[in-house]
Amino acid sequence: MARCWGVIPAAGAGVRMGYSQPKQHVLLGGKTLLQRSLQALLGLPGMQGVVIAFAPDDPRAADYRDTDERVRIVQGGAQRADSVLAALHYLQEIAYNDDWVLVHDAARPCLAAADGERLVTQVVAKGCGGLLAEPVVDTLKRVDADGYVQATVDRRGLWRAQTPQMFALGQLHSVLAAALADGVEITDEASAMEWGGHPVLVVPGSPSNFKVTVPGDLELAAFYLGINREGQA
Ligand code: CTP
Ligand code: MG
Repeated sequence: MARCWGVIPAAGAGVRMGYSQPKQHVLLGGKTLLQRSLQALLGLPGMQGVVIAFAPDDPRAADYRDTDERVRIVQGGAQRADSVLAALHYLQEIAYNDDWVLVHDAARPCLAAADGERLVTQVVAKGCGGLLAEPVVDTLKRVDADGYVQATVDRRGLWRAQTPQMFALGQLHSVLAAALADGVEITDEASAMEWGGHPVLVVPGSPSNFKVTVPGDLELAAFYLGINREGQA
């Protein structure tokens, strides 16, 4: 079985959520979003350990230190990519360059085992890094600054990127570090690998693996998880 490691960037402030605490710490059915994302990663085949990046001043980091011997904690950075890089830096010390690493947002608590396993299986089979994504289904409009439609964009071949995103550890670490040093704007791991000229495989995912971003998203997450809402911030 392929050796895999997980990275969870969980150092964001959750500004769009507008709660008093970052969204990864919001309770949903008795577990935080982060606990759910962590469990999903830990349950994947070949998972050796998961590194979580927390904001430097996050008092909740200590809660995760002793939950599972496979969980490690590092300090995140100003942007998501800085948080991911901090975790990769840590992994570089304890893992092999050709181990796989799966980077998964703390704010995607509904990742189904079948989707994660499909990603691992297809990436390992092809020997090429990849990500879960969904084809775009809506008609797309390009809109000008005054709010008028400029054009209808052809959606054929357009996909919405999700996480986990899975790459060889050594390659992702060096490409991401180089891209950030170069001042490239990196929104996900795949964009760094594209910048580095590496092929990236798209593996079909599910709508349930959406990113919780605004308060209404919690209802949707509860629906997908089959639970009642409780105890939010
Ligand atoms: N993240 C991180 N470090 C940052 C910024 C974001 O680890 N400096 C993490 C978030 O905690 C989240 C994931 O990256 O799990 C996706 O980011 P996003 O959904 O944008 O979360 P926030 O940045 O927290 O939310 P917002 O943009 O609304 O402030
Ligand atoms: Mg953000």
